[in-house]
Amino acid sequence: MEYALEVRNVSLRFGGVRALSEVSFGVKDGELFSIIGPNGAGKTSIVNCISGRYRPTEGQLFYRGRDITALKPNARAPLGIGRTFQNLALFHHMSVLDNIMVGRHHLLKNNFLTGALYWLGARREELEHRRKVEEIIDFLDLQSVRKATAGTLSYGLRKRVELARAMALEPQLILLDEPMAGMNFEEKEDMARYIVDLNEEFGMTVVMIEHDMGVVMDISNRVVVLDFGRKIAEGEPAAVLADPHVRRAYLGEEDEALSDPDDLPSHPPAAERVA
Ligand SMILES: Nc1ncnc2c1ncn2[C@@H]1O[C@H](COP(=O)(O)OP(=O)(O)OP(=O)(O)O)[C@@H](O)[C@H]1O
Ligand SMILES: [Mg+2]
Repeated sequence: MEYALEVRNVSLRFGGVRALSEVSFGVKDGELFSIIGPNGAGKTSIVNCISGRYRPTEGQLFYRGRDITALKPNARAPLGIGRTFQNLALFHHMSVLDNIMVGRHHLLKNNFLTGALYWLGARREELEHRRKVEEIIDFLDLQSVRKATAGTLSYGLRKRVELARAMALEPQLILLDEPMAGMNFEEKEDMARYIVDLNEEFGMTVVMIEHDMGVVMDISNRVVVLDFGRKIAEGEPAAVLADPHVRRAYLGEEDEALSDPDDLPSHPPAAERVA
């Protein structure tokens, strides 16, 4: 099997809005793959199709050769597909530890009855879950806030807890929707390092949506570019960023979306872009 994940001719419509038009790409096992593109390009939509939150209007999705197009999100998680959300999806009143435990929900084999009958087994399972959660807490340096209520943490830390929750599912493929959005430079650097490490040390295949071109350039193996719901480029980061179609797509973008805005022609305002 060449691809861990294959997106084949996926289109998605919301009434009259074409969020995605015939998008195809493949992600190889072990890759750190980025999806970039201007606001509204369809990046979250494609990730929602991969995670099962949205059902494509047309096209198919394959995970390790298996057609997953019709599978519900809760049927994809056990296959090893995990994700974080662009807008954090934490339980604000719960502790960091409990938020991460929730991520292991689908791995909890013992239901109430078997748990009662095989108390010892359930206890062992609980300890194993705790051990895994502790490993993730160590990995993401969350020891000092493990008992803190998630809602009281800084935005950067909450993004990290969100990553921990997604990792707790022990996914083989992890989908990250703007893991560094709203972070300061240092927080971004930390997050980039965690993502590289979870890719290299934990062996997770990563599909990441990210606006910060510097980070995308630095850490991705390959990049796909969406614009108005269509794929306009795919390849290694340097080649993709040199692509004239890509540069044109970004003309309407804010300067901060580009690693080196001076490198580009002057930016006409977004409104001048022809839809
Ligand atoms: N649930 C929905 N209902 C209606 N339209 C939607 C829905 N989700 C997305 N869209 C539309 O689909 C298009 C693509 O949106 P999407 O959120 O995928 O873009 P994006 O690339 O993630 O943008 P951003 O960088 O702002 O996060 C947009 O026009 C958006 O308004
Ligand atoms: Mg988005």
